[in-house]
Amino acid sequence: MDPRLTAYLADLHGAVTAHDAGLDDRLMRYRCLEPDSAAVLSALVRSARARRVLEIGTSVGYSTLWLADAVRATGGRVTSLDVDVARTEAAREHLHRTGLADRVDLVTADAGGWLRRESGPWDVVLLDAERPAYVDYWPRLFAGLRPDGGTLVVDNVLSHAEQVQEFRELVDATPGVTQAVVPTGAGLLVIVRGPADPHTDPPGAAQVS
Ligand SMILES: C[S@@+](CC[C@H](N)C(=O)[O-])C[C@H]1O[C@@H](n2cnc3c(N)ncnc32)[C@H](O)[C@@H]1O
Repeated sequence: MDPRLTAYLADLHGAVTAHDAGLDDRLMRYRCLEPDSAAVLSALVRSARARRVLEIGTSVGYSTLWLADAVRATGGRVTSLDVDVARTEAAREHLHRTGLADRVDLVTADAGGWLRRESGPWDVVLLDAERPAYVDYWPRLFAGLRPDGGTLVVDNVLSHAEQVQEFRELVDATPGVTQAVVPTGAGLLVIVRGPADPHTDPPGAAQVS
């Protein structure tokens, strides 16, 4: 990573942490990924040579900057959604300042409605929004993941395990996925769709439903 971007990200993370520390209302906090988690995400995008990346939950763009830097290396693009227009605009400013704006399409939208209109395919998706909604997102997210290795990364699965329990049960019941929890930061769940395992998956398990 360009040392200037590394420094920018460190400053932004510090500013977000200071902002959030003064707020009791969780929804008012920006709640960016832990740097180690963002580094794992970046490594996954590069390792998968992901070109079609989706982020649900831009906030002010900390994770978006990491994703944008990673897709600059892979020749890809990021679509990043947030329901809050002020956060979208803050993220836009950070992307401009770091020269990464041309890699990202920022969308101000509710993820549930957007997912009903858009269908992928996505190589990598970061899901980092309001956890109770993940159960509703799962069918559309799974269908939109590239069938031969599309990857969904979900943050906070250790810090807020009870809030993602139902979501995780849905994923467990879905044939054709491989999962691992990476115990860094707040805990990342990495879910990979396909390729189908002929020993354990029913025929067509990794196909688009
Ligand atoms: C945990 S923060 C995202 C942090 C960001 N990924 C980062 O690491 O910098 C969650 C964000 O999800 C957004 N959000 C919540 N519900 C949403 C929804 N239904 N659709 C889109 N965005 C949503 C919030 O406005 C908030 O900015």
